[in-house]
Amino acid sequence: MKELVLKQHIKVYETVEELSDIDRQLLQRAKEALNDSYSPYSNFKVGAALLLKNGEIIGGSNQENASYPLCLCAERVAISAADAMFNGIPILAIAVTVKNPKQVIKEPASPCGACRQVMCETEMKHRQNMRVLLQGEIGEIYEFESAKGLLPLSFDGSYLD
Ligand code: THU
Repeated sequence: MKELVLKQHIKVYETVEELSDIDRQLLQRAKEALNDSYSPYSNFKVGAALLLKNGEIIGGSNQENASYPLCLCAERVAISAADAMFNGIPILAIAVTVKNPKQVIKEPASPCGACRQVMCETEMKHRQNMRVLLQGEIGEIYEFESAKGLLPLSFDGSYLD
C-alpha cells in the first residue's frame, strides 16, 4: 500500500485591492451579475464573470425554475453564454461570488461539482487553463491557477478513447 497526498496551491487575497486591475474588474462584473439572478426558490444569488482571450467580459447568474432540477448555475450560464457569443475563444479566468439574504457569506464561493466538471471540460476544449477567483459576499479571495485545482482526479474525455 502507498499513500498519495494531493497538494493544492491557492493564492489568498485579503481584499479586492490586492487584485490586479483586470481581476478586480472581473470580480466586480460577477457582483453586478448577482442583480440578474432569478432565484425565487432558494433566494441564494450566485454571480459569475468570465474573461475571454479577446478581452470580452461575460457575466452570468443562477436561473431557477419551479421544477427544481432545471435550475441553472451561474458558472454554467456564463460559460454557455460565452460559447454562444464567442465560440472557440478561450476563457482565461472566471470569478464567482454569492449573496445569501439570511447570512453574510465570508468564505469564498464554492462552485458545485457539476460546475467544476464543466469548467474542467471548458479548459480542455480550449487547451487553456482558466484561473478561478472565488469570493463570498465579503472576505478573502481565493485564486486557483486552473479549474483542475478544484476537481482533483477528474473524469475527462481521455477515458473514452
Ligand atoms: N448555484 C450556482 O449558481 N452555482 C453553484 O456552483 C452552486 C449553486 C445556485 C443554484 C441554485 O440556484 C442556488 O445556487 C442554490 O443551490
